[in-house]
Amino acid sequence: MRIHVNDKDYEGDFDPNMPILWVLRDVLGFTGTKYGCGKGLCGACTILVDDQPVRSCSVPVGFAEGKRIHTIEGLENTPYRSLQMAWIKEQVPQCGYCQSGQLMNAVGLLKTNPNPTENEILDAMQGNICRCGTYPRIIKALKTVIENKEA
Ligand code: FES
Ligand code: FES
Repeated sequence: MRIHVNDKDYEGDFDPNMPILWVLRDVLGFTGTKYGCGKGLCGACTILVDDQPVRSCSVPVGFAEGKRIHTIEGLENTPYRSLQMAWIKEQVPQCGYCQSGQLMNAVGLLKTNPNPTENEILDAMQGNICRCGTYPRIIKALKTVIENKEA
């Protein structure tokens, strides 16, 4: 099968039932996406499929065939790089483990709603767990990008 990741095509003999996360990390080497709970509960493995946040540990790669997958590695040359810069400026990460999932979830929010209210931000981000409790800095960084219209 063929999948489209970060604007490039990849062909391989992937088992369509294999979770996307396994293909990304173990086959294609996109290790920026993290494995946390493996049960769709923590959000560490969040990627975008056709601009929608998806828990890649719990979705088979067959679901993404013919769709656009984006991972943290694909942000660099997009307007959403501004989110990464804001994360750095606000020193959001602590251990960092959850943060690529947090960022991809935030990108998914801004793609569908570029000017969310505070409640919409909290609602969209609440499913992404951070054991280090960086939530206030995540919200601050996200609001800075929204207020400055940087994405
Ligand atoms: S590792 Fe996928 S949701 Fe936790
Ligand atoms: S920064 Fe450590 S889990 Fe979020």
